[in-house]
Amino acid sequence: MKDITILRTAEQVGNLVNRWRQAGMRIGFVPTMGALHQGHLSLVSQALGEADRIIVSIFVNPTQFGQGEDLESYPNTFDEDLMKLEEAGAHCVFFPSVAEIYPDGFSTSVHVSGLTETLCGKYRPEHFDGVATVCAVLFGIVRPDIAVFGRKDAQQLAVIRRMVDDLRLGVLVLAGEIIREPDGLAMSSRNSYLSSEQRKQAAVVCIGLSRAAELVSEGERDAVRICDAVREVIAEAPLATIQYLELVDPDTMKPVEKLNTPGLLAVAVYFGQTRLIDNVILKP
Ligand code: PAF
Repeated sequence: MKDITILRTAEQVGNLVNRWRQAGMRIGFVPTMGALHQGHLSLVSQALGEADRIIVSIFVNPTQFGQGEDLESYPNTFDEDLMKLEEAGAHCVFFPSVAEIYPDGFSTSVHVSGLTETLCGKYRPEHFDGVATVCAVLFGIVRPDIAVFGRKDAQQLAVIRRMVDDLRLGVLVLAGEIIREPDGLAMSSRNSYLSSEQRKQAAVVCIGLSRAAELVSEGERDAVRICDAVREVIAEAPLATIQYLELVDPDTMKPVEKLNTPGLLAVAVYFGQTRLIDNVILKP
């Protein structure tokens, strides 16, 4: 195993990044909230293909959690995370305190409008402001050349890309593919909340999305019919409650009625208190 540098302050990260830059290195960045799984590690390995030095942040960002959400119980597996990141070849972990990211007097919030009104944004009204704000702060501290975000959070990815373009942040945002368990469940730190029965049934989410892709390959283009078919599959799991299931344009996140160009079919499903999201790009 290689040595990994653990830094807690923005100043330390700035100094390290300056040294790397002076040596002509390209900086890659993977922001996370910890509780790392293979999905995160695949983002690190993608970043390693594009940059010389990789910084991974582990920061459970309070501003992206709403009232009654899982901020207090969010899984913390810091020691295991470090080992996984070392193995994966990351060079530095930035593990700041809340006060380091949001010092006294912090007064800025980044709001990306348009993309944030549908899907998760409809049910988590402050979530994307929290995500955009923390990513803007982290980008300011790390000043990466590239940053990698997973496609599982497709709306988050679109929001970050819009913010980076609008604010001319000069970061190349890359998308990492969704990494799945053998039964198709998209990997997520929140999967650890599922009971064994919920975990078994959670595979229907991916099966439902695959059914949609199958229908589209057979010629179906109607959003209502596609969504109805997915609902039918998910309904086979008695513990599943769909929060939303929508076919949207992958760039604007606006609903589409007919699939004439690639569409993003995105879903959020509750199993008990645990909310899982997943998506697929449907190509007509
Ligand atoms: O996807 C996540 O884990 C978080 O939303 C992120 C991008 C690290 C911001 O807190």
